[in-house]
Amino acid sequence: MHIDLALLGYGNVARALARLLMRKEATLREDYDLTFRVTGIATRSRGLAINPDGLDLAEALRLADSGEPLDSLHRGAPVHDTLEFVRQCPADLVMEATWLNPQTGQPATDYVRAALEAGRHVVTANKGPIAFAYRELRALAAQKGVGLFFESTVMDGAPVLGIAREGLVASTVERVRGVLNSTTNYILTALEQGTAFDDAVAETQRMGIAEADPTNDLEGWDAAVKIVVLANVMMGADVRPADVERAGIRGITREDAQRAVREGERIKLLCEAVRQGDAVRVSVRPTRLPLSDPLAQVDRTSSAVTIETDTLHRLTIVEGDTDPTTTAYGMLVDMINIARGRYR
Ligand SMILES: NC(=O)c1ccc[n+]([C@@H]2O[C@H](COP(=O)([O-])OP(=O)(O)OC[C@H]3O[C@@H](n4cnc5c(N)ncnc54)[C@H](OP(=O)(O)O)[C@@H]3O)[C@@H](O)[C@H]2O)c1
Repeated sequence: MHIDLALLGYGNVARALARLLMRKEATLREDYDLTFRVTGIATRSRGLAINPDGLDLAEALRLADSGEPLDSLHRGAPVHDTLEFVRQCPADLVMEATWLNPQTGQPATDYVRAALEAGRHVVTANKGPIAFAYRELRALAAQKGVGLFFESTVMDGAPVLGIAREGLVASTVERVRGVLNSTTNYILTALEQGTAFDDAVAETQRMGIAEADPTNDLEGWDAAVKIVVLANVMMGADVRPADVERAGIRGITREDAQRAVREGERIKLLCEAVRQGDAVRVSVRPTRLPLSDPLAQVDRTSSAVTIETDTLHRLTIVEGDTDPTTTAYGMLVDMINIARGRYR
């Protein structure tokens, strides 16, 4: 099978994906009978490029890494904006890795909708479209007979949604609990070790895991969007980030964190979705967990999720050492699953 790809966004994740695609090209061809071309790349400020014969990916990486625009790679009529790009780029599959707005899910939701409407498969690493419009986009994908996969939206490339889809069939998910935001988990770990709150925040910014404005992490928005994705996808809920009972970690001191440790517990920013009758209640809040809880063992930038079902009872997935390549890997898995027709 051959698949033409459009990359929407060309930042850390999409460039890691480009490198991974080049590294895995022979594996895809030999083991999965899958060949690909990248026929378009769109960015917000570095231009965009479409070439129906396939872009030179190595050259696109060189340009992006050196801060040069991509326009020199473009062939054909000019394309003015991202929506026009989505509609015009001759691609079977749109790989979406643009910016996340955790309050609205836009503009990524519009891009995903436009790609599906144009009959293209979509893989997205962006939580926004799934947290804000999952049911609508899923129905649209089904109507158009295309796939919509989004493994990398929660816990990077760790196969959380894949396990639920393939391995928890005929099960009812009763509860999902997770430590899902690496910035706050790193800060909470640092507080336990005696670092002051503001210094810990600055450290996450220096490491590049927190944004210059860390509000979305510290106030629990990023975590809220992730638990909404899990609740809607795994539990059939229909909630939005604004429905999450949400408290962030501002106000937690190193004294609080160290006291919890002395008393045999650890403070974690716990994300939770619990089935209650026909409803699912979702929350994000700092919670003291006993050390016997696997979620209490998750350090620094690691993440973990515990899924409770009526069949497997309790399953915990832990991931460590994440980086943009682990996120890109989840997108590659989604691409292979679409090529295998797993969306039908
Ligand atoms: N970083 C991770 O490890 C990770 C993990 C899981 C999920 N994600 C999700 O993956 C997505 C990408 O993350 P990232 O770290 O790669 O972000 P990033 O480095 O900031 O890259 C974002 C890219 O999207 C482009 N972009 C933004 N708005 C756009 C628009 N309106 N039209 C076209 N392109 C647009 C940007 O263009 P410019 O280059 O012009 O700025 C940039 O190329 C986000 O949704 C994030 O939440 C990331």
